[in-house]
Amino acid sequence: MQRHEQIAEARKLLAHLENRTTDLADTIYRNPVTDYTCPTQAERERALFFRAGAINIGLSALLPNPGDWMTHDYSGVPILVVRRPDGELGAFLNACRHRGARVAEGRGSGERDFRCPYHGWCYGLDGTLIARPDESSFVAAERTAHGLRPLPVAEKYGMIWVATSPAGRLEIDTLLSGLGDDLAALGLDNYHHYETRVLRRRMNWKLAIDTFGETYHLQHLHPDTVDPLFFSNRATFKAFGPNHRMLGARRTIDELRSLPENEWDVFDKTVVICVLFPNTVFTYQRDHVETWHMFPGATPDDTVMYVSLYIPGPVTSPKAKEHWDKNFDLLMATVENEDFPTCEGMQRGFYSGAQDSIVFGRNEPALQHFHRNITAALAQAERAAAE
Ligand code: FES
Ligand SMILES: [Fe+2]
Repeated sequence: MQRHEQIAEARKLLAHLENRTTDLADTIYRNPVTDYTCPTQAERERALFFRAGAINIGLSALLPNPGDWMTHDYSGVPILVVRRPDGELGAFLNACRHRGARVAEGRGSGERDFRCPYHGWCYGLDGTLIARPDESSFVAAERTAHGLRPLPVAEKYGMIWVATSPAGRLEIDTLLSGLGDDLAALGLDNYHHYETRVLRRRMNWKLAIDTFGETYHLQHLHPDTVDPLFFSNRATFKAFGPNHRMLGARRTIDELRSLPENEWDVFDKTVVICVLFPNTVFTYQRDHVETWHMFPGATPDDTVMYVSLYIPGPVTSPKAKEHWDKNFDLLMATVENEDFPTCEGMQRGFYSGAQDSIVFGRNEPALQHFHRNITAALAQAERAAAE
């Protein structure tokens, strides 16, 4: 966010506090319950967003040095991402070209090559097949044609994206539809990866996104955790194509009123929450960044997600470690004990017949925007398939 936009958003939030208002959608939006339960829709989402789409992996800080690598399987596609010696990223399908075994597991650093554990085929960090035992038995299968299958990968604004199919396209600025300026202004290149935790819950992946889509619930669901820190039902909303950005107000935001605008530290008084469509929630909190990446599990009722904490500098003391551990634990306690159990109850309730649709109020514009765009993307894919 550029400085002038930070000021404009803070002004808006202060006005909302004064007038007891929040950014509003034009009208209510009824979202069919089947959006969260229908196996056919779940399959279409998996095909469109996760098996053929572009996914955000996280910040560049996940792979800071040449020889760093990580596997990523949450989309259903086995992905291997590597920082090459020249500093550029490579991404590959994590499947050996001999008989398909996974050539890497987990994550690591200082790697010079990947040796398949099954029969020892050896691949360079650029995916080329360097060597294989008993080469003479395979001369008819040319070595040059049996490198790891590359996937499009892009690194921009301090973040990493991968297309989950080899034929996929990655145009980051098109994907971000203007939100790139916001990300650029945050200087995400400079952050350090502190920790990533993986969660599995009995709820649809979109419900996990919805958790971060309004501040209406704060005082009711989080009276002792979030509510003391943030105002409920006071937020700004702006769409960037299918993505969006919200700013919520910290309880300290009133302090800005006594300062000239050129002295406002807007990030100190707010939280910035962006959805990078379709499945990434990016939260900028004063001095640190959290990213949430939600993925559908095996059924419409399952979500696998990972949350990462990125911090401004490396941890050099036990005190700093304690600080960030506490920060992460508090975040996890809130979502694990308050948000996600509520979502799981909603998910079970969707099958009860209580209602055919749920309703997003005018004060929940981000939820409306997110679900309208999910519906539109699926409809567009359907039309394209029919043509
Ligand atoms: S499957 Fe990888 S070397 Fe055989
Ligand atoms: Fe919440």
